[in-house]
Amino acid sequence: MEGMRLGILTSGGDAPGLNAVIRGAVLTGERTAGHSFVGFRNGWQGVVEDDTMPLSRHQVKGINKLGGTIIGTSRTNPYEHGGAERVKEVLAKNEVDALIVVGGEGSLAGAQELYKDGVPIIGVPKTIDNDLGGTDYTFGFDTAVGIATEAMDRLRTTGESHSRCMVAEVMGRHVGWIALHSGLAVGAHLILIPERKTSMDEITHYVKGAYDRGRAPLVVVAEGFQLASMDTVHSELGLDEAGRPRLGGIANLLAPLIDEATGIETRATTLGHIQRGGTPSAFDRVLATRFGMAAVHAAQASQWGHMVSVRGTDIVVVGLEEAVGSLKVVPTERYDEAALLFG
Ligand code: F6P
Repeated sequence: MEGMRLGILTSGGDAPGLNAVIRGAVLTGERTAGHSFVGFRNGWQGVVEDDTMPLSRHQVKGINKLGGTIIGTSRTNPYEHGGAERVKEVLAKNEVDALIVVGGEGSLAGAQELYKDGVPIIGVPKTIDNDLGGTDYTFGFDTAVGIATEAMDRLRTTGESHSRCMVAEVMGRHVGWIALHSGLAVGAHLILIPERKTSMDEITHYVKGAYDRGRAPLVVVAEGFQLASMDTVHSELGLDEAGRPRLGGIANLLAPLIDEATGIETRATTLGHIQRGGTPSAFDRVLATRFGMAAVHAAQASQWGHMVSVRGTDIVVVGLEEAVGSLKVVPTERYDEAALLFG
């Protein structure tokens, strides 16, 4: 087969490992089949605005250890800017045969629509939240968990010095995977996740229990968590480009409530985008590189409408509908297992 020209774009919130995907794809494609690559800047925005950058071996050298994405990202929805017709027009103009789209749930849902409308697309799953169906892990998650764990180890020593309760807020819009894994790693006294509404009485029970044993309680909370008394997520920052509420601040809401209910001085820390920035972990670099390589093999096999994924330790290819069909939430039994160690 003659070499193809493949477009790459990164879409949605960034995740450590995006650059390793790009490098893995470009090196594999150039070396194994003479494919050439073009980057579309800032997600779908670069496609609909025809904003490209060259992606050859030269541009991707050494980038597997860099956080962020050298081609930029956005939450632009192509269907709000001309849809499949505009995408096909720009691909034709740039002589691009097919697209590799690295994205999360929203971006891959868009990719699936475009595929149905005749655009040849391979998906690569990405999110630090690890909430995509169809794959056991997404790159970025391991890095985020590592950063959150290190930050909370630090919160514990200062909390212990002052006998305070520390509330640490981590990312996790719909799911509590980062909270669960970092909370287990750090030995938190309570983990609060979006999948499980919890009352102030329960929170007070665990915080007081830990304090009465002589510990400085550490509570990990995912940004999308809701108290049993809440009927919507805590959001004070308006909506993002995709029309979703901007999250962040639930720890600030909880800390005074815990202080008041327990009489224990309580402080809140929101880790925010620190979890998404910076150097990817070795695990994420390897996973992302393998995803990039597999995406090129999938394109070569014309597996349009599919995405690469990891099952156990194997990289496989699944239909995009598996990723966008359902969120991968924390199963009840996984949370209950962790809860045995609360308090
Ligand atoms: O989806 C990944 C994520 O990091 C969520 O955990 C978070 O709610 C969201 O992105 C934040 O996005 P932004 O950087 O656009 O505010």
